[in-house]
Amino acid sequence: MAFTDEGQHTMNVTILAIESSCDDTSAAIVRDGAVLSNCIANQEAHRQYGGVVPEVASRAHQANIIPVVDWALKKAGVAKEDINAVAFTRGPGLMGSLLVGTSFAKAFALSRNLPLMEVNHLQAHVLAHFAETPKPRFPFLCLTVSGGHTQIVWVRDFLDMEIIGETLDDAAGEAFDKAGKLLGLGYPAGPLIDKLAREGQPRFPFPEPAVPSLNFSFSGLKTSILYFLKKEVAANPLFIEENLHDICASIQTSIVTILLKKLRKAARQTGIREVAIAGGVSANSALRQAFEEMGQQEGWATYIPAFQYCTDNAGMIGVAGYYKYLAGEFCGQDVAPYAR
Ligand code: KG4
Ligand code: ZN
Repeated sequence: MAFTDEGQHTMNVTILAIESSCDDTSAAIVRDGAVLSNCIANQEAHRQYGGVVPEVASRAHQANIIPVVDWALKKAGVAKEDINAVAFTRGPGLMGSLLVGTSFAKAFALSRNLPLMEVNHLQAHVLAHFAETPKPRFPFLCLTVSGGHTQIVWVRDFLDMEIIGETLDDAAGEAFDKAGKLLGLGYPAGPLIDKLAREGQPRFPFPEPAVPSLNFSFSGLKTSILYFLKKEVAANPLFIEENLHDICASIQTSIVTILLKKLRKAARQTGIREVAIAGGVSANSALRQAFEEMGQQEGWATYIPAFQYCTDNAGMIGVAGYYKYLAGEFCGQDVAPYAR
C-alpha cells in the first residue's frame, strides 16, 4: 500500500459500483477513491402513482442495469477487463430493487473472479463526502436526510459510525413528499417544494414537535399541515392555489428548523465542529443555506455534497466500497440483501 502526501492510501484499484436500493438504477466507476463516472437512470414511471411502486421499480432496474453499467464504463473510459473489484448496495431499501443490483454485482464478480464489497446505503451517503475536496476530518457529525431516513451520525472513521439521533416516525424526505401530496404536487415533492418556496414567505407557522434527546419526529407536522389546509380550504376553496408559494416556504422552513436545531444540539453536546449534511434532502437549497449560516454562528467547518452526491447514486457506493477494500472487508457469494 502506498501513501500520498495527504496520507491517503492508493492501491490502484478500479471498482464497479452498483446502487439499486429504491427507484434509481445507478452505476459508477471509482478508481482509488476518485469517482470517474457516476451514471443514473431515473424511473419516471412512479410519478403517476404518487410514490415508488416496488414491483415497477424492480422491473425497471432489470431493464436499466446493463445499459447503465455500459454507460458508466464508457464514460469513465474503462474496459470491463480493467475492473478489479465490485461494490453494491446491500441495504436498506426495497427488497425487489436490491435483489437486482445484488444479483448483477455477484454475477459480475463471480464471472471474473473479483472481490466483492457489500455496502450499507446510509454509510455510503455519509462517505459521499470523500468523493470531493475538502474532505471532513474525523471525528465529524453528519446529518443524513433522505426519503427513508433521518439520522445524526457520529463518524469516527470511514467504517466506524454511530447513530446518535434518528426519526421516531417519518423521515425528512417523507415529510416533504407527504406534504407535497396534500398540496396535490407530484412525487417526489421535495425538489418541487424547494423550487416553489423560493418565491414564497414562511408566514404560516406550524408547531415544532417536542421530542427529547437527539431524535426527530415529523408525523405531527404532517397532521398539522393536513388540518391547517382543511380549515383554510373550507373557508376558501382556492386557498392552496392562491398561497402555494407561501405554504411551501412555511413547510420547508419548519422541516429545516427541526433538523438544524437537533444538529446544533448534537454538535454542542459532543463538542464536534466538523459538521456535514448528506442524503437526498441535503439537496434542498434552504437547508444548505441555513446550515451554512448556522455553521458560521457556531464556528463549524461545514461540508455539503455536490448535488450529484446528495440523492441516490453509485458514486458514493464505490467510495464506500473503496474503504472496505482497503480494510479488507469483502463478502462471499452467499451474501443476501436486507430491506431494513
Ligand atoms: O437519498 P435519496 O435520493 O433516496 C433515499 O435514500 O431515500 O432521497 C430522496 C428524498 C425524497 O424524499 C425527495 O423528496 C428528497 O430526497 N429531496 C428533496 C430535494 N431533493 C430531493 N427534498 C427537499 N428539497 C430538495 N431539493
Ligand atoms: Zn438514499
